[in-house]
Amino acid sequence: VSLRPYNTFGLDVKARLFARFSTVDELRALLAMPEVQAAEKLVLGGGSNLLFTQDFDGVVLKNEIRGLEIVQQNDDSALVRSGAGESWHGLVQYALDQDLSGLENLSLIPGTVGAAPLQNIGAYGAELKDTFEQLEALETATGQLRTFSAQECGFGYRESVFKGPLKNQFIVTGVLLRLHRRAQPNVRYGDIRTTLQDMGVADEPTPRQVSEAVSSIRRSKLPDPAQIGNAGSFFKNPEISQARFDDLKARYDGLPGYPVPGGVKVPAGWLIEQCGWKGLRRGPHGVHDRQALVLVNHGGAQGQDIRDLAYEIIASVREKFGIELHPEVNIM
Ligand code: EPU
Repeated sequence: VSLRPYNTFGLDVKARLFARFSTVDELRALLAMPEVQAAEKLVLGGGSNLLFTQDFDGVVLKNEIRGLEIVQQNDDSALVRSGAGESWHGLVQYALDQDLSGLENLSLIPGTVGAAPLQNIGAYGAELKDTFEQLEALETATGQLRTFSAQECGFGYRESVFKGPLKNQFIVTGVLLRLHRRAQPNVRYGDIRTTLQDMGVADEPTPRQVSEAVSSIRRSKLPDPAQIGNAGSFFKNPEISQARFDDLKARYDGLPGYPVPGGVKVPAGWLIEQCGWKGLRRGPHGVHDRQALVLVNHGGAQGQDIRDLAYEIIASVREKFGIELHPEVNIM
């Protein structure tokens, strides 16, 4: 089976076996099949955080568990449950339609709801963990369902236990989010404020207006995977010590940085741009011309070439700044 429609880089690799599931029972039945048990398994949501560098000699299980509902509400908040296979942006729109606030800053992020907790998706001043209540996941080895609280998920910047100690052990089937019934606009991010001003929105933006502002910023910087293959930010933004930051700042006046506990977070996009990579094109693959953190497939690229380019970028940033970049995308 060609995985080309199932990864946003648009890479034409093959999987030995491919199956979809839309209920927990279907998933259990698949996992009980001998050929599935014996094979390496890859659970796929939207395929928006993956780089395939070769054919996958195992079984791809595509999560298509649907369902969006408000399971409980009071004066202040509503608990929304989403099946893991729903599209993330579909959930954001559902929340806006229900007049619920909390997800608008995370508008237009590609991928599925089930994949969101794995790396605690975040953008424009918000992260999944801010509204996360609980998730349901099936343990691959036993077929048992269990729940994880936010604490048990171990969320960090683009991190969770499902990328660390529990990697490949659980399949997320559903996610519960606690959303606000009164708008709580989060406009800490400067770009959102200026965009709202440009939109002519005064003091108190509605969740829908914030969503529109975020969508317009994203469209202006990030390539649409339907047009140009990509997986969003290819690298994480590195964190360095304050001393190291001061030292670099003395040499590179323009170096941006945001304080975080224990140090300073530096935008990888800036470091990569300074190394001259922004807009680079090597035949069908390259670096996006409006956001250096995004590697792109203009059509017909090979995963290995994108991976090799990523490693060249890492080496050049290490050489120039002494900072180690780490891929955010899963390299298969
Ligand atoms: N910058 C450059 N050149 C570039 C890109 C960025 O100089 O080519 C500098 C600028 O100083 C800019 C700063 O980096 O002000 C921040 O850029 P931007 O607001 O575009 O955000 P980012 O740090 O590059 C992160 C996330 C994005 C998220 C945005 C907005 C990571 C790895 N990436 O990017 O997430 O949308 O912030 O909050 O944290 C993703 O994870 O796939 C993703 C797109």
